[in-house]
Amino acid sequence: MSSVVPLPCALYSAKIPLGMEQQEGKFHPQFTEVAPYYDRLMSTVPYGMWVDYVELLLRLEDYRPTRILDCACGTGNVTFELARRGYSVDGTDLSRDMLDVAEQKREKWGWRDVRFFHQDLRTLSLPPEYDLAVCLYDSLNYILKSEELKSAFAHIAQCLLPGSLFIFDLNSEFALEAELFTQNNLWRNSDLTYDWRSRFDPITRISRVEMYFKIRQPDGAAKEFYEVHYERAYTIDEVKDLLAATGWQTLRVYDAYTTNHPSARSERWFFVAQRET
Ligand SMILES: C[S@@+](CC[C@H](N)C(=O)[O-])C[C@H]1O[C@@H](n2cnc3c(N)ncnc32)[C@H](O)[C@@H]1O
Repeated sequence: MSSVVPLPCALYSAKIPLGMEQQEGKFHPQFTEVAPYYDRLMSTVPYGMWVDYVELLLRLEDYRPTRILDCACGTGNVTFELARRGYSVDGTDLSRDMLDVAEQKREKWGWRDVRFFHQDLRTLSLPPEYDLAVCLYDSLNYILKSEELKSAFAHIAQCLLPGSLFIFDLNSEFALEAELFTQNNLWRNSDLTYDWRSRFDPITRISRVEMYFKIRQPDGAAKEFYEVHYERAYTIDEVKDLLAATGWQTLRVYDAYTTNHPSARSERWFFVAQRET
């Protein structure tokens, strides 16, 4: 989970000590407790603009998909945006809690054709019927080992028809090193406050993000919980090598939301890869 791009109002501050070091036993795994609040936290994320950007990248490749697999779909925000635009879309995610929210929205909005699969990308197994896979919002940074990212690429390839495209983003090492996850909204008078602290280890290239949340319930009581998230930085060359080793050709790498080449200060990259025929 990242607010590197979409939360312009976030304060990058570590001034208010929470004593998280003493809270080690209290951390829930990532995307569990936070799932019911994820969409509120992401309410300023421009998902529509992201899907506009994916469609722009598709036009640049002169490629028109019909069956899309949204990998690491979370609560389905990208999935439903694609469905609204007329694509046939399925989503898959590792977190049962995130998928529960996605499925509740599917029922509420009547998207009966959208299917959700509770699967790990590293071992993903679906019939090869999709002609585009997307994986957005630094979801692949959550895969912490090169071998496991390689396995995810290989398994995603097996779910796609030959020649299909795969569009995904990744937070850069520049972004993780700058600890842009260290942010809070404690300055706001909100029913949902958060305070996140990240620490990037330059040896493992893993960022550990300790997240504190406090939610004011309708009855006035406060619910507090902690989650710990881990994101790994990869280099563009590492990712290209892993793609090449798993039947993908990297067509393009962009500085996110532009059609420019990545720079040393790019916070996020977008990859466009094609499954070999
Ligand atoms: C930051 S959220 C992004 C969710 C969604 N793509 C969005 O744009 O809102 C990252 C998602 O990646 C999922 N995830 C992390 N590791 C995964 C894995 N190995 N396989 C499948 N999903 C995974 C998490 O459960 C979480 O829902």
